[in-house]
Amino acid sequence: MKRIGVLTSGGDSPGMNAAIRSVVRNSIYNDLEVYGIEKAYVGLIDNNMYELKLKDVGGILQRGGTILQTSRCEEFLTEEGQNKAVENIKKNKIDGLIVIGGNGSLRGALDLHKKGIKIIGIPGTIDNDLSQTDMSIGVDTALNTIVDAVDKIKDTATSHERAFIIEVMGRDSGYLALMASIATGAEDVFIPEKELNIDDTAKKIREGHKRGKKHGIIILAEGAGNAYTIGRKLKNILGYEVRITILGHIQRGGSPSAFDRILASKMGANAVKALLDKKSGKMVGTKSGKNVLIDFEEAIKGRHEVRENLYNLSKILSI
Ligand code: F6P
Repeated sequence: MKRIGVLTSGGDSPGMNAAIRSVVRNSIYNDLEVYGIEKAYVGLIDNNMYELKLKDVGGILQRGGTILQTSRCEEFLTEEGQNKAVENIKKNKIDGLIVIGGNGSLRGALDLHKKGIKIIGIPGTIDNDLSQTDMSIGVDTALNTIVDAVDKIKDTATSHERAFIIEVMGRDSGYLALMASIATGAEDVFIPEKELNIDDTAKKIREGHKRGKKHGIIILAEGAGNAYTIGRKLKNILGYEVRITILGHIQRGGSPSAFDRILASKMGANAVKALLDKKSGKMVGTKSGKNVLIDFEEAIKGRHEVRENLYNLSKILSI
């Protein structure tokens, strides 16, 4: 192995730069050349790549986003697109590839692995929907962004005695919403994995109000339903205004937390080591504090189950 490539793919997540930096520095430490591939699989198809030296990754550890940029590449879903990518990998004499991204990105990595490319994945997604690693890069930062925003909304909600529905990201996964509900003391949480019962929520908010609670905060995972529809129903039951805040892409940006910087640094090192150990078709991950290497097929299967004890805890604490 002489030269490796690195790319970031799918939705960006805070800490991707820290992972790129770690891949580059660990590679150079091990006498490998590193090529950065631009805009995910698009860069492989269009042959947009350049050598990354030590200085190219200086000052990026604390920056959100990804210096390599990212995309969700439609063309790479086709056989033709994948063949172009393989051709360019070979043309540029890239012996191994590291892909930083979420579920869809690792599916793409699996396709390349099947075509004989040596490839290792690093989990980077704010959703934390890859079940074979306890944490993915960016989750902790996104959660802290949400907590900061909800705390602020709570101030104004309390001042006006209002109910708020705050929508957070997570198309298929309620991880961010559930953890945020515990961390912010929200009155209720709606996640795609659980049935939502607006009557129960309204009852809870009303009872809380009777006891002197001055706010009603509901955290909604985007995949659990439409914030405006739920808001309207809740308003009809409660008889007063329910405000909606959709946090949106603010959750994907910003400087990564210390946790994400360290996680990304470790995972970058582990990914380079895996390639040097002649491993391929695997995602680096962390389980119960231990480093693991998981086959792509396993890594992309299923999602984290909702931790019932945490779901129940959120309900108990939000009374
Ligand atoms: O997968 C990460 C994620 O942020 C999801 O939580 C969200 O549903 C989606 O990406 C949004 O994608 P886009 O930035 O393409 O709108």
